[in-house]
Amino acid sequence: MAETIILCTADEVIEGEIKRAPLPDGTNVALYRVAGTIYATADMCTHGEASLAEEGIITGKIVECTFHFGTFDVTTGEPTGMPCEIPLKTYPVTVVDGRVQIEV
Ligand code: FES
Repeated sequence: MAETIILCTADEVIEGEIKRAPLPDGTNVALYRVAGTIYATADMCTHGEASLAEEGIITGKIVECTFHFGTFDVTTGEPTGMPCEIPLKTYPVTVVDGRVQIEV
């Protein structure tokens, strides 16, 4: 059953930065603002043990993992640059009363 999780306030998600937020299962999500819209993906790179919020660089809708320079489209989770081949999990984001929430 889907559960709604409130992660932070919308103004904490800033264009050009990556915000990490914890989930109840102990994993984290990475939040991005792209052209005004907030997107959420799993925080852990699918290539290795890198936190995208800690190690990633967001440029437009592309996050680069600086461990091995792989990239993903954060709006879809699809890998866009080697060595990343496995998509990032994405979460539908809604903003309600200024709070960012996802369904997990
Ligand atoms: Fe992210 Fe290798 S751990 S590209």
